[in-house]
Amino acid sequence: MPQTTKPKSPPAKATRTVGKGGALKLGQAHPAWAADAACRTGDTGRADSRDPFSLQDRIALVTGAARGIGLAVAERLAVLGAHVILTDINEDGLEKARSGILAAKGSAEGLRLDVTDPKDIAQVVDAVIARHKRIDILINNAGICINATALETSAEIWERQMTLNLDAVFFLSQAVGAHMVKAARGAIVNLSSFAAVVDVRPQKHVAYSVSKAGVAHLSRVLASEWARSGVRVNAIAPGFVMTDMPLGAGMEMHDIWRKFVPAERFLHPYEVANVVAFLASDASSAITGQLIMADGGITIW
Ligand SMILES: NC(=O)c1ccc[n+]([C@@H]2O[C@H](COP(=O)([O-])OP(=O)(O)OC[C@H]3O[C@@H](n4cnc5c(N)ncnc54)[C@H](O)[C@@H]3O)[C@@H](O)[C@H]2O)c1
Repeated sequence: MPQTTKPKSPPAKATRTVGKGGALKLGQAHPAWAADAACRTGDTGRADSRDPFSLQDRIALVTGAARGIGLAVAERLAVLGAHVILTDINEDGLEKARSGILAAKGSAEGLRLDVTDPKDIAQVVDAVIARHKRIDILINNAGICINATALETSAEIWERQMTLNLDAVFFLSQAVGAHMVKAARGAIVNLSSFAAVVDVRPQKHVAYSVSKAGVAHLSRVLASEWARSGVRVNAIAPGFVMTDMPLGAGMEMHDIWRKFVPAERFLHPYEVANVVAFLASDASSAITGQLIMADGGITIW
């Protein structure tokens, strides 16, 4: 009689329990996740082959892009494949920035935008939507820092600081957010500062610090309102960065500040731009409503 060998039973598959639904085989999507559009990779147990850091074909609008951090961000987004709309009040700087990106084989255009002017905001957003049909990424970067003690801070200083650093972030986010919510997709990254969470010494700028704390909280609230519409909003808090802005406080401050940073160095604008690009990309799809410290560790002391 031929010997019949009983087929070996396959090794028991690992299971995990999801809610009340009971056991679920690894790799099998739970029906409760079917409607969860954001769960792009976790429901298969396999990594998606698309590069989540890529910004290929995204339309990105950056404010204050003529120099400093804004320029570094615009260049980084372009390298990652985005078409970048550079905006600023400095038109010469804008043209230089645009030519630089085009020379590096990136895709960019420049538009004059004074972020404190509601008419400018409406015109620029309408023009971009008319041409590109959407805005996928908004980087609210334009800002100024007025150095003044609390007792020196006049109503005019307070208003100038808030109008540019906080009000403009809200009104541009609102204008662009309306299109993002309709499209059910978008990422907004707002430039806050480590001054939002600690007092910066020894120079004084109460209005600046409060405006940046406002940006951090505005980002949380917008993130909460728009999360179900697929729009993420985050803020980034740079430490001291090598741009013209900290120079405004005087060179003598530099040596003092350097001692406050664990690595005893200023950050390069590209180090901030890399974090902004991450927050603008799908790689950060789990992050919204956060203030991400990119401060070289200045706030750990
Ligand atoms: N440099 C730092 O150490 C540092 C640290 C923390 C946060 N930040 C924040 O990062 C952002 C960029 O800072 P930066 O150091 O690159 O500054 P920067 O002064 O070098 O550049 C600011 C840009 O904003 C533009 N701008 C000014 N007013 C504008 C307006 N009304 N409309 C449109 N554009 C306008 C300027 O023309 C300039 O191109 C700011 O929001 C700043 O508060 C900077």
